[in-house]
Amino acid sequence: MPIDYAARRARIAPQLGLTDEILLAGAGQPIAKPEISDAQLPFIAHQEYYYLTGLADAMGGVIAYDPKSGWVSFVPEVTEAERVWEGRTQQPGELLGKLPGWLAARQGRRIVLLGAPVAGVAADEPRTAEVREAYKHSRRVKEPAEIDLMNRCAVATTAGYAAIQPLLRPGVSERQLQIELEAEYFRHGAQVTGYDSIVGIGAQSAVLHGTPSPDRVAKDGDFILIDSGAQLDRYVIDVTRTYVAGQPTAFQRDLAAAVLSAEVRACARCRPGAEWKDVHFGAALDMVGALVTMGVMKGKPESLVEQEAHTLFFPHGLGHMLGLGVRDASGLEPGRAKDPRPSLRTLRMDLILRPGYIVTVEPGLYFIPALLNDPARRAKYRDAVNWPLAEKCLGLGGVRFEDNLLITEGAPVNLTAAIPKGI
Ligand code: GLY
Ligand code: MN
Ligand code: MN
Repeated sequence: MPIDYAARRARIAPQLGLTDEILLAGAGQPIAKPEISDAQLPFIAHQEYYYLTGLADAMGGVIAYDPKSGWVSFVPEVTEAERVWEGRTQQPGELLGKLPGWLAARQGRRIVLLGAPVAGVAADEPRTAEVREAYKHSRRVKEPAEIDLMNRCAVATTAGYAAIQPLLRPGVSERQLQIELEAEYFRHGAQVTGYDSIVGIGAQSAVLHGTPSPDRVAKDGDFILIDSGAQLDRYVIDVTRTYVAGQPTAFQRDLAAAVLSAEVRACARCRPGAEWKDVHFGAALDMVGALVTMGVMKGKPESLVEQEAHTLFFPHGLGHMLGLGVRDASGLEPGRAKDPRPSLRTLRMDLILRPGYIVTVEPGLYFIPALLNDPARRAKYRDAVNWPLAEKCLGLGGVRFEDNLLITEGAPVNLTAAIPKGI
């Protein structure tokens, strides 16, 4: 099911609120590797350009729109060296050399500049900021072809998680798990991973965006947290599962059950019209309730969340939009300003859910030394935490479960339901 980019541009244009301005979106320029050679870093066309063109490697490309005359795609002229060394062919569109003439014919009109900078073009910054928000909002509802791509990513990701199940034992390293997981994605059609895979064993499972190491090897009873997903044509899946190597303790089971139950309940709340902030706070409240029952926190769960004490153990947001890139078109509901509450600083979106949105739901509970050893937090939350117990848990790591939901008119569809959950 290919994406119809011309139809997409026709749908998006009226939603941008342009009157007399012209719009440009730049793909960006390649960046040389810092190794004094002719090699370049992998080129990733700017998301705002790619969404309108589907051109992944039009380095320097520009898509232009004039409300009076429509869309024009300006692409770089392929060089002989590129034909010889890389086997490139000329992409369809107008050659970039014609862009200055196109602009000159529109001299004096304000320019909205999305994507990467375009040499010699001065943007109207306030209008650009407004149009960028409108553009982001217009990208939020997924087209069937986007959902199809993400389902294919989910199939590859499911195969990867299935392949590593026999390896989840004492003696396995983070790097071994990463290698087997990703190789299986590629065998099932993935081009790359959607982001750098996170594999954390033991204390490392509490490092939110840690890098897998061959030197960290599971011991009996270690948590193993894996956050990874396959990518296809720039579309991404983003899944987290947590396991235990060998036998979990009762405490580990309770912690995992607390996160899993909060995740399942949060997923059920992902209905059209739901405020994402409310879904986030609902999950925080559920997990704080469990921590109180486990004796880790002290007090009334509602009051603890009110005081933002949940951020000691759940310091990130409940999730984000997903699709074209791992954050896709997250952000703010049109007309909204960033919520100033400190505990929402890390919430990546403040939106009302609508059918067609795809979001991650990813609550977690962690024992993070950088937070729990902080004297200011210890003083502020002196009575909210059973500190001797929390201290004993430093080194235990953390638990996260993450699924990807398509919001519908009814119950959400879990795109990653085929990957079993539970330690
Ligand atoms: N996959 C990383 C994250 O969701 O933050
Ligand atoms: Mn993730
Ligand atoms: Mn995520």
